[in-house]
This record gives sequence, C-alpha cells and structure tokens, in this order.
Amino acid sequence: MTCAEEPVNAEEAIEQLVADRSLKRIMVIGASDAGKTTFAELLLRRMEGESALVDLDLGQSHVGPPAMLGWGRWSQEYRSVDEIRPERLFFVGATSPLANPKAAIAGAAALVSDASDRAERVVIDTSGAVEGSYARHLKLEKIRVTRTDGVVALERGGELEHITNAILHGRLAPVLVLPVAKEAVPKPARERSAYRHRRFAGYFASACLMRLPLEGLEMMAFSKQDSLFEGGRLIRGLLIGLADRVGRHVGMGIIEGLDEEANELIVLTPVPRRGKIVAVLPGRMLLTPAGKEERLRRR
Ligand SMILES: Nc1ncnc2c1ncn2[C@@H]1O[C@H](COP(=O)(O)OP(=O)(O)O)[C@@H](O)[C@H]1O
Ligand SMILES: [Mg+2]
Repeated sequence: MTCAEEPVNAEEAIEQLVADRSLKRIMVIGASDAGKTTFAELLLRRMEGESALVDLDLGQSHVGPPAMLGWGRWSQEYRSVDEIRPERLFFVGATSPLANPKAAIAGAAALVSDASDRAERVVIDTSGAVEGSYARHLKLEKIRVTRTDGVVALERGGELEHITNAILHGRLAPVLVLPVAKEAVPKPARERSAYRHRRFAGYFASACLMRLPLEGLEMMAFSKQDSLFEGGRLIRGLLIGLADRVGRHVGMGIIEGLDEEANELIVLTPVPRRGKIVAVLPGRMLLTPAGKEERLRRR
C-alpha cells in the first residue's frame, strides 16, 4: 500500500488491495456520502474466495437495521450490499457511534472478530463521523480493536488528514488516500433521516407484542445511566436490544409498557420466540413503531 501522500485512482487502489492477500481486514473511512459503501461493494465484487462486509455505520446502515451494527457474507450474485443477510448483529441503541462510543467499539471488535473467523477477507464500512477529536479518537480505537490491516480514506479536501496522520503516526495500519468520486454528492440531512425512518419502519413492520418477565431478566449496559426507568418510571418508547442466553444480540424492541401485576415488561418486537430472550440492553433513543426517532433526555 502507498502512504497518505500518494493518491491513486479507485480502480488501481482496488487492484492493489485485492492483490495483497496480507490485507485481511480493510476499513473504509470518509465523511458522509464520500462513497464508502460504494467503494466497499466494488472491493467485495473483485475479491475472490469468501468475503464479508462488517457494517459499522449505525445511521445509513445496510446490514441489519439502524442502531445495530452487523456483518454478513458477500455473494457475487448480490446486486448490492443491501442483499447481504446479517450473520450477527450488535445493538448500540443510537444512530451515531458518538452517542454510545463504548458499545460502538465493543461491537466493532466483536463483529470483525466473528467475521474474520468465518471469511477469508473482511471489508469494514464505517460511519461518516470524522470531524473533531472525539470522532478521531473513536476511529483510531476501532482500527485498533478490529486489528485492521489497511485503511482506505476517501477524502474531499483535507477533512481526514487529522485521522490519517494519527493512524500513520501511531503505526496502526497503512493508509491509502483516494479522492471522493465526482458522482458522490452529499445528501441533505433530511434525506439521511428519511432513510433511517424507512429502515426502522421496515424492521418493525412485522412486530408483535412480547412479554418479558422482569424477574431474572438481565440488564446489559455499559453505563449505570442506561436503564429502562427514569425517576422510577418506565421509559415508554425506549429502543432496546434483546439478547439470548449466550449474549448474542438477536434484535431490537420498543418498550410499550409494564404489566405490574404480572411483573412483565411489554415490548414491541419482530423477534420471534420469547423463550430465547434472557437479557435486554437499554438504548439511548426513543422510537415509534412507524420509525420516527425522538431524543431521550436523561436527567
Ligand atoms: N464511484 C462512484 N461512482 C458513482 N456514484 C458514486 C460513487 N461513489 C459514490 N457514489 C454515489 O454517491 C452517493 C453516496 O455514496 P455512498 O457509497 O452511499 O457513500 P457513504 O457510504 O460514504 O455515505 C450514492 O448515491 C452513490 O451511488
Ligand atoms: Mg454508507
């Protein structure tokens, strides 16, 4: 791979990346609409053998619903990455990694490790959060925990320099900087939000009510702040993750209510088979079943 100072065109870059088989885990970074997913797909199309996509974009996600990270195997028969079936999901409970960085980092590590065990080559798509030291720190940490072998940086005009310099300085991975394609035009924020709205609504379209006995139900959270209750009251509309007995995040739900007599939590979810759920993960946002996001304000 070349260094940050030697940009090449996308076609050459893909050829180089595909030919160098020591690059098992390749991460694509860039701002929103820089063409990360398009590049990831082009790369997967050219790779021979078993390859997989890890989707670390929580908002404009393609593998699994928004607010969850996911990975799945690529098949050359797919027309786009949207056809990838998720092999494993990880609940973050927010549509940006900055809203729950611990979960986003833990999820990146878990999913990339799982994908690398099952596929020869892994392409890692990321969120468009690249501005400021907080976003930089998060990207560096993700590169570290995923043991990324090479980074592709799709850059418009110097916006990734603070990240690519830090990657090279810390000797985390070689970096290939490419200019953003002329065809990649930034979408307005409302289009991105409409995309999430549709994906959330699609996910909850087949949802039913599930009752979960509160006794024995495990809470999985990275912070004491994360709870199903606020000031002693259940947070209706809270987005939650549902986990099985081995800690796998099988899907998401929306808190509907509490049956105090039966001491059961009532959750709207498309996840089948209630017996499987033994733990819940409190999210950091509210959601309606129709896919409308609302901010959760904690005191
Ligand atoms: N190389 C390219 N050629 C043509 N269109 C592109 C190219 N890269 C990106 N685009 C278009 O730009 C938009 C944003 O690209 P996308 O890959 O979704 O960006 P990101 O994943 O970085 O948000 C999409 O409509 C995509 O089709
Ligand atoms: Mg994308």
